[in-house]
Amino acid sequence: MASHTPAVRSSLSDAGSEKKLEALLQKMTLEEKVGQLVQYSAGQPTGPGTGRTDYDDMIRKGEVGALFNITTARQVNAYQRVAVEQSRLHIPLLFGLDVIHGFRTEFPIPLGLASSWDPDLIEQTARVAARETSASGIRWTFSPMVDIARDARWGRMTEGSGEDPFLGAAIARAYVRGYQGARLDAPDSIAACPKHFVGYGAAEGGRDYNSVEISEHALRQFYLPPFHAAIDAGAATLMSAFNSLNGVPTTANPFTLKQILKGEWGFQGIVDSDYTSVGELIAHGIANDGATAARKALLAGVDMDMVSSLYHENLVQLVRSGQVPEAAVDESVRRVLRVKFALGLFERPYADEAKETGAMLRPESVSLARTAAERSFVLLKNAPFSGGAPVLPLSNEVKRVALVGPLADDSNDMLGSWAGQGRAEDVIALRTALTQRLGVDRVHYAKGIEIVGGSDDQLAEAVKTAQESDLVILALGENAPEMTGEAASRAHLGLPGHQEQLLEKIVATGKPVALLLFTGRPLTLPWAFEHVPAVGAAWFPGIQVGPALVRTLFGEANPSGKLPVSWPRSVGQEPLYYDALNTGRPADNIDLTRPPKNILEKYVSRYIDEQNTPQFPFGYGLSYTQFGYGDLKLDKNQLSAKALNVQLRAGDPQTNRALSVSAEITNTGTRAGEEIVQCYVRLQGTSVALPVRALSGFQRISLSPGEKKELTFELGPEAFAFWNDQNKFVVEPARLTVWISPDSAHGERKTLDITP
Ligand code: BGC
Repeated sequence: MASHTPAVRSSLSDAGSEKKLEALLQKMTLEEKVGQLVQYSAGQPTGPGTGRTDYDDMIRKGEVGALFNITTARQVNAYQRVAVEQSRLHIPLLFGLDVIHGFRTEFPIPLGLASSWDPDLIEQTARVAARETSASGIRWTFSPMVDIARDARWGRMTEGSGEDPFLGAAIARAYVRGYQGARLDAPDSIAACPKHFVGYGAAEGGRDYNSVEISEHALRQFYLPPFHAAIDAGAATLMSAFNSLNGVPTTANPFTLKQILKGEWGFQGIVDSDYTSVGELIAHGIANDGATAARKALLAGVDMDMVSSLYHENLVQLVRSGQVPEAAVDESVRRVLRVKFALGLFERPYADEAKETGAMLRPESVSLARTAAERSFVLLKNAPFSGGAPVLPLSNEVKRVALVGPLADDSNDMLGSWAGQGRAEDVIALRTALTQRLGVDRVHYAKGIEIVGGSDDQLAEAVKTAQESDLVILALGENAPEMTGEAASRAHLGLPGHQEQLLEKIVATGKPVALLLFTGRPLTLPWAFEHVPAVGAAWFPGIQVGPALVRTLFGEANPSGKLPVSWPRSVGQEPLYYDALNTGRPADNIDLTRPPKNILEKYVSRYIDEQNTPQFPFGYGLSYTQFGYGDLKLDKNQLSAKALNVQLRAGDPQTNRALSVSAEITNTGTRAGEEIVQCYVRLQGTSVALPVRALSGFQRISLSPGEKKELTFELGPEAFAFWNDQNKFVVEPARLTVWISPDSAHGERKTLDITP
């Protein structure tokens, strides 16, 4: 993989600012140096805090380098004035915030955005977020979360781009480009912070903060690529994580932070700890006091201590007593100052308060939020109803629609977790938009039940409303703030509360039902997928939920979203991901819908009471039209490992083509539509076992009814390279299989040999 592009290197560390920062460093006392490495929350805490409040005094004394959780330009300027006008060296503060999927203009949750498979769109959403965030004086977001998430029990799956390293890397780059813009020192750019480094999404049992064991091979092959991509794209900062990795907490892990990130990848920016994660080294059991925790974190490469106070309280003494070399502190201070210079904070420390309000919710931002919500929608099922047409799209002629469910008239949940400055009042709810569309006489709303709780009367009213209508739109799902995001792992993945009961009663009315799932993760709903004719994953779509879904329901927007995660049938299948290894006893060609009948069916890698396959595979999603795939072609019938390795080392793999793979895609339906076409590879006969399929390319194609296009994927040598048994990224002789397909479980394939 490529290292930093030259343009990015210079924007983080050009010679002029390096000189300035060295000059500044010379003037700093040890206390002032340590101050640059200290970060506190001066607003709504996002975890247990320190209880500190005396920020002005600390800032004046140069004891603080960064603050976060402040949300307005006025507050930012007030603190900044103390730093710039009253501290001895006038070093500006760096202000950060969790701007995860929008600041005031809330876009779909990141998992929803990832379902668009549209990096350009995601880049635009990040650009809007950067403009709004910087207008409030905040120049640093703790985003993107690029943790690979293979387990839907983990609540933070909602915050990332799903299970795949290739898709994850493409999206990671898009976020960084969007946040940081063309130049980091432009007033409307903000520093990105890919997190949580690393392996946080692999928490055992899907339980947040839990321990993680990942071999070096798997780390490099699956978990590191999105981080590397973000750093390659120029991310100015990075956050460590809460979890331990192979026994060593990631906030004191020199292998990942020093060797890989700062060494192999040449990262020049700030490594921030996660919230109190320096202090948590004590609970992890690798430090028995705060001073040891601070020493271990700093020496492992954590430059800034978020909230725990331990750098603040211990580093000066640790240096004076010789336990931490001052050079290590200097190195971290350089990184902090480098980012402050790169952001132009020394020249422009203040936000323009007069421009703040005007930057929010601009019409073009709101319209982008609608597009993003439309593109994040994944149509999971759309079967004919009673032998007739599929339920969706709905006809404009429909006379009476029942809108039922606890999320049908909701504004708050639609913002998702980490809703930034998003406000419920900015949300156009589904009920509002549907009523605007059809008129109040044609929309009959009944809540039916609460997300958790509710009464028999509510249920009865909903059933009656359904019976009196021509069709039912059912809006069910999770409570976003409580059931998704941090500290929201779930051991049960069905619909919360008694929503399934409501669902069954509504389906029993015999009316056509379109079920919209509002959720931060896939939900295990085998009954629904069998009995409800139309089901879509809306995720939490943000402020434009209503208009986006109404346009989708009535077919003005044709769904094109594809799942960025495998959708399980039952919790017991988790962790579930498509790019798994084959095992020595794969269950191919065995009917797994029933218990094993004989020895051959039993002693394979399977469950005796569940299928191996997901409910819906990674990459899956329907449209209101259909697409045919055919005529798969490769432009070579053999590749050479030696030549590919030369190519791999030669230069930019992005422009270094090795194999053209093409297929003909036809719109075989009756509507115009867009399809996300996917290219997968498999390598067999290699020094380590590799996944049964790995995504190596995707393209969006737009086709009118009957139209046919040839689509080509130009695969570079990196598509055939992997981390081998020596942990080297190389191409080895192998049998190569290539697919072009609509998802990770189907499609035509071709094979060829990669010779020595
Ligand atoms: C989360 C981070 C977040 C930080 C600051 C932590 O609890 O793990 O993702 O950026 O808080 O709010």
